[in-house]
Amino acid sequence: RRLVEPNGPYSGITVVDSTESTNADLEGVNAPDRTVLIAREQTAGAGRRGREWTSPPGGLYMSVYYEPGVPAVRVPWLTLLAGVALANVADEAGVQSALKWPNDLLLGPKQRKGAGVLAVTKEKGVVLGIGLNVGAVDARLGPGGIEATSLIAEGAHQLDLTELATSLLLELDKWERPWREAEGDPFASGLHEEYRKHCLTLGQDVRVELSGDKELVGTARYLETDGTLVVRDAEGHDHSVPAGDVVHLRA
Ligand code: BTN
Repeated sequence: RRLVEPNGPYSGITVVDSTESTNADLEGVNAPDRTVLIAREQTAGAGRRGREWTSPPGGLYMSVYYEPGVPAVRVPWLTLLAGVALANVADEAGVQSALKWPNDLLLGPKQRKGAGVLAVTKEKGVVLGIGLNVGAVDARLGPGGIEATSLIAEGAHQLDLTELATSLLLELDKWERPWREAEGDPFASGLHEEYRKHCLTLGQDVRVELSGDKELVGTARYLETDGTLVVRDAEGHDHSVPAGDVVHLRA
């Protein structure tokens, strides 16, 4: 399938051997909607919470610039959408996967982290950065204290990075297009339902670290149209938890 316009969904795809960070590169230029940059390695890959994303050759490091034209409050769903795309790509590779809200992709029976998503907002749009561990990884504690793993480490074989990138771009388009057509509504576009299918957190009892050493204990119910997690406490009150807060699953 053609990925690039006029017949495909993306306006351009560039692959470079090495760069500091594909996110930083796309943040620094004026790119058209749905521009893609892929690097074979990154020398200063950025993770969430100011952490580094270790990016040796053999992994997939991709950023996509979107000008989605949906109400700004709904834009956080783009990062959740990336999690859905990653989970489906892991499924295609025959690797068991689950999403820990907001968008850690956990792989294999031990549920170790295999991918992460970092979105950066620009003036008109969003740079959506996706890092997927494919080849061997150093299984030390990865970002957020979760051990790292990769598709190959979890038993996938013969993964060609070009094919993997193509699958991921097709999956992103499959969910982004209806979401955009529904003006960013995750319910009308079926995205919320698909996210729920893959998500470990929804329906579970959770403990949320709030600022000021407080915590909230309750049940994770659903995600709002702005991407916040709705947690119902023991008294039956609903609380909106933003994606920046740390949520623990209770055993
Ligand atoms: C996380 O901490 O979970 C998010 C990691 C995001 C890494 C990707 S790799 C491609 C893009 N470029 C970067 O510098 N970071 C993102």
